Amino acid sequence: MPLTVVEVEGADARSRLCEHVLRDLPEWFGIEDATAAYVRDVRELTTLAVGDDAFLSLKQHTPRAAEVYVMGVRRDRHRRGAGSALLAAAEAYLRERGVEYLQVKTLGPSRASDAYARTRAFYEARGFVPLEELHGLWEDNPCLLLVKRL
Ligand SMILES: CC(C)(COP(=O)(O)OP(=O)(O)OC[C@H]1O[C@@H](n2cnc3c(N)ncnc32)[C@H](O)[C@@H]1OP(=O)(O)O)[C@@H](O)C(=O)NCCC(=O)NCCS
Repeated sequence: MPLTVVEVEGADARSRLCEHVLRDLPEWFGIEDATAAYVRDVRELTTLAVGDDAFLSLKQHTPRAAEVYVMGVRRDRHRRGAGSALLAAAEAYLRERGVEYLQVKTLGPSRASDAYARTRAFYEARGFVPLEELHGLWEDNPCLLLVKRL
């Protein structure tokens, strides 16, 4: 059955869903301050969801470019298409609004991590191109910048 993606209405609901999902993903979201910042920031961001299991929040930086600010799928639901369904819905939402480029930032490959190797495999499978690994943007971690033409 195709997965249904909905836009989450209400700042409190966005924050709650983000926390519910990220707390289930300690391999990716183990840094308390960073997780708390996501839970706070999604209050103001367009957020799409698949049930209570998965969400994606968007930040638009310029009229032509946006970012997947944060996304997550609860651990026992991985690899069942929720991430792809969220991304496809986000891309359609942005295209309708004239946005042409979508970026995402994630842990760069110079820091060994099986968990984030899977994350990068997901983005590349969905058409994102790794542009550059940035050092210094994040305090202790290399940041890989990926982009997709919508
Ligand atoms: C990354 C994430 C959002 C992907 O969502 P998902 O619902 O598991 O992904 P999908 O089922 O839509 O996978 C789509 C494709 O991506 C690739 N992919 C996804 N997970 C993968 C993995 N573990 N290893 C290799 N490729 C993978 C595959 O090509 C997959 O297609 P297939 O299953 O037909 O082979 C999810 O796994 C997640 O929440 N991870 C932890 C948090 C995270 O990384 N968030 C992003 C931080 S920047």
